[in-house]
Amino acid sequence: MAHRWKNDLTRNDVTPKAAFMNRRQLMASALGLGAGAAGMATLGSIGATPVMAQDALVPNTLEEITSYNNFYEFGTAKDDPVRHAQALEIDPWSITVEGMVDNPGTYSLAEIMDGLTTEERIYRFRCVEAWSMVVPWNGVELADILNKVGVQAGAKYVGFQTAIQPGNMPGVQRGVMPFPYVEGLRLDEAMHPLTMMATGIYDEPIAKQNGAPIRLVVPWKYGFKSIKSIVRIKLTDEQPASSWNAINPGEYGFYSNVNPTVDHPRWSQATERKIGGGLFAARQDTLMFNGYEAEVADLYADQDLAVDY
Ligand code: MTE
Repeated sequence: MAHRWKNDLTRNDVTPKAAFMNRRQLMASALGLGAGAAGMATLGSIGATPVMAQDALVPNTLEEITSYNNFYEFGTAKDDPVRHAQALEIDPWSITVEGMVDNPGTYSLAEIMDGLTTEERIYRFRCVEAWSMVVPWNGVELADILNKVGVQAGAKYVGFQTAIQPGNMPGVQRGVMPFPYVEGLRLDEAMHPLTMMATGIYDEPIAKQNGAPIRLVVPWKYGFKSIKSIVRIKLTDEQPASSWNAINPGEYGFYSNVNPTVDHPRWSQATERKIGGGLFAARQDTLMFNGYEAEVADLYADQDLAVDY
């Protein structure tokens, strides 16, 4: 890698959750707000003021991260994945790498990860549905994996595919959407040092409902780009399919960069609800490129993001 992205925030830098909650309560009482209905109404308007950076980087609890999920293979309700994904068989696991690569083949997960050291990355995670979390992922840069298999000169995109285990997946049995779930990135997005393949959360193996044993994480894009439980990676010179884009191209673009100025046709993308905020949780402002503008804006310098949404 020419340059390796260095996270300046580790879990040690994060405001302890207790202190954070106290400060919020202090803030609320300083503003003369009680916990009653009037207070709630006023708190709504606090959501319009920019949040402090440290607020945004308090990681959610493991419980929150593993119990409120989207994984349609297991059903469309937020608690379907935690209830049903335990049936996902993840051992053995292999990934087929194909297309414009020097070393195509089917590799075990151990072979894919061989020689790579996982690191922790605390990232904002913003779903297109306008909820968000902060997740302490463990994983490797996707670029490290792609460099191992050798990307050929003409490759322009990377496509990904999720496993299908119909017997274990009630959402697949019911056909809640077309499967397998597929996603894609432009090669420069895939090679960007922020883009990671996660195998853990909070130093524990990634839970099945979060996409075990290995899933993509692209922190500046809406969460649906971060495809789970990957079994196939293909390097191509043509734009690969993206499941939600294929289902409804007017609502879900191929790029799907987090952008508070480009609304979803049916709802605003200007603010978001952080999961687990509790009673006092005001909506918080959504940040351009989910707060990673300095790192990724260059990738889109020549594009109109209202057109390439
Ligand atoms: N990957 C697969 N295979 N199937 C899915 O339904 N949902 C996407 C993404 N990856 C999805 C998926 C969506 S919409 C979001 S917001 C995130 O996973 C949710 O990730 P989480 O459950 O780990 O928070």
